[in-house]
Amino acid sequence: MSVVSDIKKISVSHEEALKQNEYKQLVRSLVESKFDSAPKAFVHTYGCQGNVADGERLKGMLEEMGYSLVEELENADLILYNTCAIREHAEDRVFGNVGALKKMKYENRDMKIILCGCMMQQQHIADKIRASYPFVDIVFGTHVIHKLPEFLYRSFATGKKVYELPDNDGVIAEELPVHRDSEFKAWIPIMYGCNNFCTYCIVPYVRGRERSRDPETIVNEAKELVANGYKEITLLGQNVNSYGKYPDYGCNFAALLRRLNDIDGDFTIRFMTSHPKDCTSELLDTMAECEKVAKHLHLPFQSGNNRVLNDMNRRYTREKYLELLNYAYSVMPELSVTSDVIVGFPGETYEEFLDTVSLIKEAKFTSMYTFIYSAREGTKAAKMPDPISKEEKGKWLRELIEVQEVIAAERTASMVRKTFRVLCESISKSGLIEGRTSGNIIIEFPADASVIGSFRKVRVTESLTWILRGELAE
Ligand code: SAH
Ligand code: SF4
Ligand code: F3S
Repeated sequence: MSVVSDIKKISVSHEEALKQNEYKQLVRSLVESKFDSAPKAFVHTYGCQGNVADGERLKGMLEEMGYSLVEELENADLILYNTCAIREHAEDRVFGNVGALKKMKYENRDMKIILCGCMMQQQHIADKIRASYPFVDIVFGTHVIHKLPEFLYRSFATGKKVYELPDNDGVIAEELPVHRDSEFKAWIPIMYGCNNFCTYCIVPYVRGRERSRDPETIVNEAKELVANGYKEITLLGQNVNSYGKYPDYGCNFAALLRRLNDIDGDFTIRFMTSHPKDCTSELLDTMAECEKVAKHLHLPFQSGNNRVLNDMNRRYTREKYLELLNYAYSVMPELSVTSDVIVGFPGETYEEFLDTVSLIKEAKFTSMYTFIYSAREGTKAAKMPDPISKEEKGKWLRELIEVQEVIAAERTASMVRKTFRVLCESISKSGLIEGRTSGNIIIEFPADASVIGSFRKVRVTESLTWILRGELAE
């Protein structure tokens, strides 16, 4: 079967998109008759950027249904939590926040409470919501976000709860309106789902099988963004390196990067996340050669011990990972590498953990996201014996962070007195402008707010372990 028909097969059909547009109009009329002015919708997304990108589409649909988006939850007429299931802590926060809505719901009967995202794709969570949080109106999983208009209409029209968690392998929903949170930074999901089944991870269960978007659609979306003045485009996927990895697809990730790099305009291309097992020298060479591609690689290693990596089903070794980094630094000496690591995977010993410490000393990451292992129901690792206490794992984690702190400080110190091109993004807590270098390191400097959204040359004057301070060089 050809690639195009494969993509069509898993895509939401144009007829379905039209049907949802009709529901949008119905909700719009309902909302206009119920509320004196545009009702307020508060949308909060937890978890990864892929989920944030979904959140921007949910917001886009709400706007088309007549809602105005608000930043504060108080007095909202619709509250939507787009949830994450990656660790227990993420789920606990959602339960806490939903519990707090009970009173609001009873004071405003026309208010709608909606829960969606990865956490809701798990049946046991939906069951718990139904039993313990009966004031929630709509619950739906990750494969049907394009049906929000239909769910909302059903909820208004019948007053009954809507629970929709279809357990399929996932679809690709194009044609959705997007409410972009920023006017100069944009997310483009290039693929959805994951096939890797790392033994600790819930993502393959809640996001379905890996599927890539059509390269033509991605390139057109990027062109439109650049034409509208966007300065940074981040390509998203759980494992972007396996983009287009089907027979005869004709466009792998490196080829996609080249096509995007060829778009005229002054902008930066970023991407995440890369999986070491699929990160090729072709991709690293492409990064090095494409001037618009940021010299930043987020390459999670998870553990520095081969036995643990094997139990995690990561399908690379410590040696292969370090070899990959050496090659990456050889073709991009200025490259900044960041990573993810899990401490206390079931069965990991202190000696094995020390291999993780030695790996970070060799790898010289700019920064790292560090996580204590969290058992996820339904995953393989959740069934493995896990004798080490949380307290002990916490001690290991602190040991790791201390080592990384020294490495990060050396890295930022080496940048002092040098000048970097920075995308100015926001005003920091200290009242300075906050921007990011190509290597994704935060730099703060005094400047007028009018620089926000543009690239500026900034000279580093001081390093503060993880971030930099500087001054405009022009
Ligand atoms: N697809 C990406 C990671 C997505 S999840 C990749 O493969 O690298 C982001 C990070 O959360 C992971 O890299 C991992 O470090 C962490 N993580 C995932 N599941 C976890 C769990 N059960 N407990 C603790 N950390 C976890
Ligand atoms: Fe989870 Fe592994 Fe897939 Fe990343 S590659 S999302 S860690 S299963
Ligand atoms: Fe969380 Fe789902 Fe992303 S579990 S990390 S929001 S894919």
